[in-house]
Amino acid sequence: MNAADLPPVAPHALRTALGRFATGVTIVSCRAADGACVGLTANSFNALSLEPPLVLWSLRRSSPNLAAFRAAPAFAVNVLAESQVELSRRFASPVADKFAEGAWAAGLSGAPLLAGCAAVFECERVSDQEAGDHVLFIGRVLGVAESPVAPLVFQAGHYRLLGDIL
Ligand SMILES: Cc1cc2nc3c(=O)[nH]c(=O)nc-3n(C[C@H](O)[C@H](O)[C@H](O)COP(=O)(O)O)c2cc1C
Repeated sequence: MNAADLPPVAPHALRTALGRFATGVTIVSCRAADGACVGLTANSFNALSLEPPLVLWSLRRSSPNLAAFRAAPAFAVNVLAESQVELSRRFASPVADKFAEGAWAAGLSGAPLLAGCAAVFECERVSDQEAGDHVLFIGRVLGVAESPVAPLVFQAGHYRLLGDIL
């Protein structure tokens, strides 16, 4: 079978199938050149390599934050706890001052770090490449912190709570 002969996958079918893949929820943040804090809710975060320590995430190309993330030498991935669902909603909306809520402090790289997260990854940006309608960011992990709080889960377009198999 020639892959070029296959009918294209309908966007709705792709979105629905991808939604079956449960993820955590993060706020990815950076410091813009003018010093402003920049961030958005993202569930495209994933592990990439242990040695060297690399992680990835992707940002839609039409995002008003794209230039800031491409210019910033570093970014932080704040893995949200289930208690932080309102911050997830806030950072997924075009709110004027997203950072007015939450306990934020500058990390070693200058990127904003959120207190109370399940984990935080401070990263040096090593690449940003266009991939379809998104830009794929890869970061080298410079520092990590983690806490045994319940992580927020996202699946099929809804926030979920993590449960154990009994
Ligand atoms: C659970 C969840 C995950 C998301 N993941 C991403 C993502 O990985 N990349 C992305 O570009 N947008 C993602 N979004 C959408 C952005 O959070 C949303 O477009 C936000 O408004 C972007 O900030 P901006 O309006 O300041 O660009 C996600 C939204 C939600 C609710």
